[in-house]
Amino acid sequence: MIKKIAHIAIAVHNVDEAARFFTEQLGLKLTGKETVPHRKVTVGFIHLGDVKIELVQPDAPDAPIAKFLAERGQGLHHICFEVDDADAEYNRLQSAGVRLVDPAPQAGAGGTKTFFIHPKSAGGVLVELNQPPRGEP
Ligand code: CO
Repeated sequence: MIKKIAHIAIAVHNVDEAARFFTEQLGLKLTGKETVPHRKVTVGFIHLGDVKIELVQPDAPDAPIAKFLAERGQGLHHICFEVDDADAEYNRLQSAGVRLVDPAPQAGAGGTKTFFIHPKSAGGVLVELNQPPRGEP
């Protein structure tokens, strides 16, 4: 079951540089930074109410986000919905013929379980479904 918007992700060349606009001009706070090695990215989080802005920076030239930046430049990258059960959603969507990017749900930042739906199945938008760690709200 989809519960809410978890985060909105922006592809950036550098998290700290990109965060300056949000902190200095908008008065928001960069509340955390984390590397996600198997996706070859570093992410920075800016909390805004119940939703996070996620700044995503490539850590390797062959990271998928690096390809996105090379082709389109910095900008909106994906929207993420929180789900209660990533495996169940993955299986349900796969059975329904929805095009999925990942071969299975993966470990994401902050102990989440996560996978991506291909933009071709989602109105041209890359959509992430994200299950928070068990035992947390
Ligand atoms: Co994300």
